[in-house]
Amino acid sequence: MSVALSVTGLRKSYGSREALRGVDLHVGEGELVGLLGPNGAGKSTLTKIAVGLVRPSAGEVQLVRPFGYLAELFRFPGWCSADEVLRLHQDLSGSEGGAGERADLLRLVRLDDAADVRVERMSKGMQQRLGIAQAMVGAPRVLLLDEPTSALDPGGRRTVRDALVELRRRGVAVLLNTHLLSEVEQVCDRVVIIDRLVAAGE
Ligand SMILES: Nc1ncnc2c1ncn2[C@@H]1O[C@H](COP(=O)(O)OP(=O)(O)OP(=O)(O)O)[C@@H](O)[C@H]1O
Ligand SMILES: [Mg+2]
Repeated sequence: MSVALSVTGLRKSYGSREALRGVDLHVGEGELVGLLGPNGAGKSTLTKIAVGLVRPSAGEVQLVRPFGYLAELFRFPGWCSADEVLRLHQDLSGSEGGAGERADLLRLVRLDDAADVRVERMSKGMQQRLGIAQAMVGAPRVLLLDEPTSALDPGGRRTVRDALVELRRRGVAVLLNTHLLSEVEQVCDRVVIIDRLVAAGE
């Protein structure tokens, strides 16, 4: 299997605090992998290093392009509608998918009725689903989602699970960060467990 994301010997220290101590992780093309670990285990740090937002202290990262990313903490402009948020990200990423891509992505996260709703009028769960749609703009081959279901009720989580299944059907590789085993065991092909300072097993 060719590799969508490959992390080897990854280390990160913030000053004297070691956030990652030698992590190895691989996501194959089209594979859906859960990255599971408690608060503070280093999941967000690993993801940010993978997309180039944080510099590693040591180790190697390879990520295929194009990739999509949903940060753990994000905020879209309140005055933008769902459709406008997606259009902005189409412009940023150079996507030529147009209105068809936007409609497809809103359908994927069950926001097709909310295309004209402004972000400031959306629940947190709707915003999080819009975040996932945003990460899919430009048809990425791999998606890194940092706790994409933290604000979601059971119905919203189900929507995200269904969207992940659909993404796998489309051959998109996904790395899904979470601290909830229940979140990943239902949809992921594989779960990688990361615990404070030490990465273990696959
Ligand atoms: N910018 C930073 N400066 C200093 N320490 C940091 C910084 N970012 C993260 N850390 C520390 O690195 C460790 C890993 O943090 P990280 O946010 O990667 O964990 P996480 O697994 O994503 O946690 P959570 O489940 O709470 O999101 C923690 O001890 C955290 O306090
Ligand atoms: Mg985190």
